[in-house]
Amino acid sequence: MRLADAHVLVTGASSGIGAALAHALAGEGARLTLTGRDRERLAAVAAATGASTVVCDLATQAGELAARAGHVDVLVNNAGVGWAGPFVEMPAGSAERLLAVNLAAPIALTRLLLPGMLAAGRGHVVFVASIAGAVGVAREAVYSATKAGLTVFAEGLRHELHGTPGVGVSVLLPGVVDTPFFVRRGAPYPRRRPAPIPPERVARAVVAAIRHGRPESYVPGWLRLPARLRGAAPGPFRLLARRFG
Ligand SMILES: NC(=O)c1ccc[n+]([C@@H]2O[C@H](COP(=O)([O-])OP(=O)(O)OC[C@H]3O[C@@H](n4cnc5c(N)ncnc54)[C@H](OP(=O)(O)O)[C@@H]3O)[C@@H](O)[C@H]2O)c1
Repeated sequence: MRLADAHVLVTGASSGIGAALAHALAGEGARLTLTGRDRERLAAVAAATGASTVVCDLATQAGELAARAGHVDVLVNNAGVGWAGPFVEMPAGSAERLLAVNLAAPIALTRLLLPGMLAAGRGHVVFVASIAGAVGVAREAVYSATKAGLTVFAEGLRHELHGTPGVGVSVLLPGVVDTPFFVRRGAPYPRRRPAPIPPERVARAVVAAIRHGRPESYVPGWLRLPARLRGAAPGPFRLLARRFG
């Protein structure tokens, strides 16, 4: 779909991929509403992109955000949080927080904003998932589960909307991206390879997914190989995953 003059709501736009996406969408002529919790960082991105802002916590305020955003042509569910470490050592409430922000809030926002798109016969919903949701990552089991949930929710929705012209669903599955995500989750990215990619690369992939109606985009593209191997040959995939992480 055309992005010029489209009203795009981007969650998690105060940092990382969401901030890079705000800049990319502004360059396409989109009208932006940006959300996040950090008022100052959000205001800085909005000032640079001519956007409106809604400061809110998606764990509890998805309904309020949808009401304040009004009619939205494109919803980008990008906000997300991580946690890394042994599952049994997860502090009380952490799993619930990941499920609320990464999975429940995107489903709630989609439930509230999709009817307007269907009525207008024009719209697009984007989910920023992760390669973790396609393969499962050790020490990130709950994070992986939230992203797998997002990916399969999108797939079901896409089946359901088949035959509904003008309304599309896209999932992005990034690998490691150079953002404050790792500092925030309290555990740095532990490997040298694959090297983190810049958030602008994911932002470009999101823009292309909306414009061309791409159902699923791995960023970088080679990441579709481990995902396909897991689907086609789970036994050998597990051996390789244990060997190489
Ligand atoms: N970085 C990676 O390697 C990577 C890889 C694959 C997928 N992803 C996914 O990409 C998305 C963006 O992550 P990023 O790397 O750009 O991380 P980031 O720089 O930490 O940005 C996360 C964004 O989510 C927002 N957010 C977090 N909790 C929120 C809450 N409770 N309510 C409202 N907003 C909230 C943050 O806003 P405030 O801080 O202002 O609340 C921030 O704008 C996430 O869904 C992440 O899972 C990241």
